[in-house]
Amino acid sequence: MDTIEGTSATAHAVLADLPVVDLDPFAEDVLADPYSVDHRLREAGALFQLSRYGILGTARHAEVAAILADWQAFGSSRGVGLQDFLKEPPWRAPSLLLETDPPVHSQMRRLMNGVVSLPALKAVLPRWTARAEALVDALAAKRRFDGMEELAEVYPLDVFPDTIGIARDGREHLLPYAAAVFNAYGPKNAVWESTEVGLPDAVEWVNQACRRENLGPDGWGMQVYAAADRGECTEDEAHRLVRSFLSAGIDTTVSGIGTLLLALASHPDQWARLRAEPDLQKRAFDESLRWDSTAQVFCRTAMHDCTLGPVAIPQGTKILLFLGAANRDPRRWDNPDRFDVSRSSSGHVGFGFGIHQCLGQMVARQEAGLVLKAMLQRFATIRLAGAPERRLNNSLHPLARLPLEVTPA
Ligand code: HEM
Repeated sequence: MDTIEGTSATAHAVLADLPVVDLDPFAEDVLADPYSVDHRLREAGALFQLSRYGILGTARHAEVAAILADWQAFGSSRGVGLQDFLKEPPWRAPSLLLETDPPVHSQMRRLMNGVVSLPALKAVLPRWTARAEALVDALAAKRRFDGMEELAEVYPLDVFPDTIGIARDGREHLLPYAAAVFNAYGPKNAVWESTEVGLPDAVEWVNQACRRENLGPDGWGMQVYAAADRGECTEDEAHRLVRSFLSAGIDTTVSGIGTLLLALASHPDQWARLRAEPDLQKRAFDESLRWDSTAQVFCRTAMHDCTLGPVAIPQGTKILLFLGAANRDPRRWDNPDRFDVSRSSSGHVGFGFGIHQCLGQMVARQEAGLVLKAMLQRFATIRLAGAPERRLNNSLHPLARLPLEVTPA
C-alpha cells in the first residue's frame, strides 16, 4: 500500500508510536457537528490512536479509501462498529451483506445486485415520479414547511417500502428501527440508549414484515425469496437480506434527502445555478453527500497481522474510518468545505468504497433526483426559515427539523 506518508520505511512503526487523539468522536457535541473536529483528526496523522476506545482511526481520504479497498486485510465480519463480534455477540443476527466477508459476501451481493438493478429502478420510475411531484406540489402551495417532517421523512417512507412489498400498517417502526441499527455501530452511550425505547416492538415488527407470507407478491422482497427458491440462498438468509433493505435503505435516504435540502436552502447561488443549468442536477445529490456525509463513520477490523504503509497492525485491531472527514480532506478536494454543484465529487466515500460500496446508491440517487427535479420545476427559490436541528446518531448525521420557505416558480 503506498498511500501513507513514509512508505519507504522498512522497519514498521508499532501502534504505540502513533499519535494519540483523546477526543470522543461519539460525544454529543461532536455528533451534532462533526466538522468541528475533522481538521484536528485529519492533521493528527494518517493513522492515529483513539485513546477513549483503544482503537485506531483515520480521517484522510487516501487512507480511508485504501482500507475500504483492502477487504482481505480489513474485514467487516467482526462488525463495522466499535463492537468486535468475536468478543461480544452482536445485538441481532449480523447483516449478510454489510457484516460479512467473501465468499459469503460475494454470493449474497451477487444475488442482491440482481434484485436492485437498473431495469428494476426503471420499472418503478413512473410511480416514484408521480409521488414526488404530488408531494412537492402540495409543499409549493404551502410555501412554508418542515423539510424533514414534510418531505425527507415522507418520500422515502412512501415509495421504498412499497417497492419492497412491505405492509403499510406499522411503518412508524421503520425509522426508530434504523436509528437503533446505526446507533449500535457506536459506543453504548446515551444516544444509543435513547433508541432502545420501543426497540423490541420495532424489531418484532421488522422481523414479521420481512417474512415471505407478509410481503407483497410483486416487490423486491419477494424476488429475494424467489432467489431462495432457486437455491441461491436459504429461506433464513432471504429473510435477513430483505431485512437489510429496511435497516440500510430508509434512514439513510431520509437523512440524505434532508442534507440535500439543507445544502440547497443554505446556498441560494447553487440553487440558482441548478435552475439555470439543468445538466448539473445529476451532480447535486452526490456533492451534498460529500459536503455533509449521511454516513459519518464505519469500522473495519484487521483480519490478520498486516501493515498500512509504515505501520504494523496486529490482527483484531479495529480502525474507525471517518468518511465525513475524508470527504472534506483538502488533500483530495479543492475548497472542500464549499458545497459546489459544478464540482465532480466522484471518488467521495459517502456511499463507501470497494466491495461493500452501497448496494442502494442508485435507489438513493433516483429518489433524491426525482425530489430535486420536482422542486426545481416548482420552486423559484428555497431558503432556511429557521435554524435546522440535528437528530443525534452514532454513525449517521441526520436532521430532525429543517424549516424551509419556498417561492413558487
Ligand atoms: C443516501 C442514502 C445512502 C447512504 C448515504 C448510504 C451509505 C452507505 C455506505 C457508506 C455503505 C458502506 C458501508 C461499509 O462499507 O461498511 C453502504 C452499504 C450498504 N447500503 Fe447504503 N446508503 C444509502 C442508501 C441505501 C439504500 C436506499 C439501500 C437499499 C437498497 C442501501 C443498502 C445498503 C446495503 C445493503 C449496504 C451493504 C452493502 C454490502 O456490504 O455489500 N443503502 N451504504
